[in-house]
Amino acid sequence: MGTAERKIMNVLAGRTVSPPPIWLMRQAGRYLPEYRQVRATANGFLNLCYTPDLATEVTLQPIRRFGLDAAILFSDILVIPDAMDRNVRFKEGEGPLLDPIDADAIAALKAPDVKGHLAPVLETVSRLRRELPQETTLLGFCGAPWTIATYMIAGHGTSDQAPARLFAARHRKPFERLLNIVAEASAEYLVAQLDAGADAVQIFDSWAGVLGDRDFADYAAGPVKRIIDMVRAERPGARIIAFAKGAGYNLKTYRQATGADAIGLDWTVPLDFAAELQKDGAVQGNLDPLKMVSGGDNLDEAIDRILDVLGNGPLIFNLGHGITPEADPANVERLVSRVRSHRQGR
Ligand code: CP3
Repeated sequence: MGTAERKIMNVLAGRTVSPPPIWLMRQAGRYLPEYRQVRATANGFLNLCYTPDLATEVTLQPIRRFGLDAAILFSDILVIPDAMDRNVRFKEGEGPLLDPIDADAIAALKAPDVKGHLAPVLETVSRLRRELPQETTLLGFCGAPWTIATYMIAGHGTSDQAPARLFAARHRKPFERLLNIVAEASAEYLVAQLDAGADAVQIFDSWAGVLGDRDFADYAAGPVKRIIDMVRAERPGARIIAFAKGAGYNLKTYRQATGADAIGLDWTVPLDFAAELQKDGAVQGNLDPLKMVSGGDNLDEAIDRILDVLGNGPLIFNLGHGITPEADPANVERLVSRVRSHRQGR
């Protein structure tokens, strides 16, 4: 058995796999008691990301429990600003905090030492590839430049990313320099993850949905295309998933605009529009993550609708965003077994 058995790689090549393979964004995390146990001993979230023993263990936890078709490297998108010395920290119950960056600090910003600073994360990737079952796809990831920039500019999460949108409008040149430096570091990071053993990578643009159409093209799709072009210039054939949360109708041209092999869909994307996007290639998604909290017949119906509309084409089943801490692991089990019992043309 070799890589040919990795179902997600077949879907990323544009083939229909039935039943569709499944993994879940944020599948390692606080909804799992075994994660909370490791997290409690880790001396902080970033330390967990930078300790290969612990990061490997928590990545494997959801694979052991649910037998998902992909493992996603346990890390965070904010390790790139951390490598840029932006003083990234995670305060309990507060989410991420960084030193807010301004135009002067952007002018002084240097390309980070990605391979040096993130060596422990790359070590985790190689350990994972050795320890995972042959048939399990290993996914690496990074944040998209726009989403990374929103945290770097505000210094914390916000509900509408007003600080970054205002900064882009007022200081376009420094803002574009920031996007470019993040894009170059991210491309180098993704190539290093692929070289360390990742089969494919996902680019998370979690805040794409707050941008108007022109800004979406310039700040979301454009920089993601530049990352993909840089990665493929070094590793031709690299398989890449692009997830632009909340992008709505902007998704219509997102695959062509970026060159991604699969387009991630959040749970607000109508399934008839998703089916249209699937005519051009693989899609990934898009169950409402809160169904993992509520469960029941309503969960089964939502799963079946996705399978009925998208299950006869290239589909990677996933949630429409990350699983939440309130999710019930029993609902994840129910989801996986229901997707696995699906037959094409049902
Ligand atoms: O998917 C996985 O299981 C891999 C691990 C992963 C994490 N973060 C672990 C994490 C991945 C792929 C991410 C990506 C990430 N991080 C994104 C993009 C995806 C998304 O959810 O939109 C973003 C925007 C971040 C930034 C980030 N990290 C925030 C806003 C927070 C705080 C909110 C929260 O959920 O606590 C984090 C912390 C974080 N990243 C946790 C985990 C498991 C929780 C921290 C903890 O255990 O204390």
